[in-house]
Amino acid sequence: MKRFAMLMAVVMVAVFSAGVIVAADAPDTVVIKEIQKTKSAVTLTHKAHAAKVGKCAECHHKDAAGKEQKCSGCHKAKKTGDAIEFKEAMHGKCKGCHSKDATKKAPTKCDGCHKK
Ligand code: HEC
Ligand code: HEC
Ligand code: HEC
Ligand code: HEC
Repeated sequence: MKRFAMLMAVVMVAVFSAGVIVAADAPDTVVIKEIQKTKSAVTLTHKAHAAKVGKCAECHHKDAAGKEQKCSGCHKAKKTGDAIEFKEAMHGKCKGCHSKDATKKAPTKCDGCHKK
């Protein structure tokens, strides 16, 4: 019985560390600073957002699970092909959801995201 418990403990540790490695793929926070002309960089609590939103593809709308890339891979300072410009992609996605947040905790005012 004791041996079985030991074995289970080892298995659990293995399972947990595997979980940590997978979770590490999604950055804890990301500082978004692709364009820095007039506004300050925006800090996104990435992991907390992912947990709340529940679906990576809600934001990473073109990426297969596990292959998430930066939005700036497609959205550039100026519209490129079909991909709208970076600023519009950010405002559309971020403010779009925030303005629907019934708790009103999600910032919609400029300096809620662009800290002074
Ligand atoms: C609220 C929107 C949102 C959600 C939900 C979200 N992400 Fe992201 N993620 C972003 C933004 C924005 C960036 C930074 C984009 C940039 O700088 O161009 C990013 C960056 C990343 C990066 C870094 C890419 C690189 O090359 O540096 C990875 C990896 C990633 N996300 C994975 C995930 C995974 C996995 C999930 C789900 C568990 C997830 N994301 C959920 C918005 C989101
Ligand atoms: C692989 C290329 C690619 C990546 C990566 C990408 N996009 Fe897009 N995005 C597009 C294209 C192309 C469009 C034009 C409409 C369409 O084809 O869906 C678009 C449209 C949009 C739109 C407006 C239409 C809509 O679907 O609401 C928003 C907002 C948006 N992207 C946000 C983001 C965010 C936020 C990220 C990063 C988390 C991101 N995109 C990553 C290619 C990409
Ligand atoms: C699908 C919904 C959704 C999307 C998309 C989203 N957010 Fe949020 N965000 C929220 C909610 C809900 C809160 C309130 C969190 C709370 O309960 O405190 C929030 C809070 C925040 C806050 C303040 C609190 C904190 O966690 O730092 C910032 C800053 C923020 N979001 C930035 C962004 C940025 C930048 C983007 C786009 C890259 C984004 N959000 C996209 C839902 C969203
Ligand atoms: C929900 C978060 C959020 C809110 C609210 C928000 N923005 Fe942004 N905005 C962003 C993100 C993310 C970027 C991309 C930042 C970067 O790449 O440097 C951005 C980029 C910009 C840019 C282009 C970058 C630059 O320095 O020129 C301008 C201009 C801008 N925002 C103005 C505004 C104004 C004005 C308001 C208020 C009416 C506002 N934003 C509200 C998230 C937000």
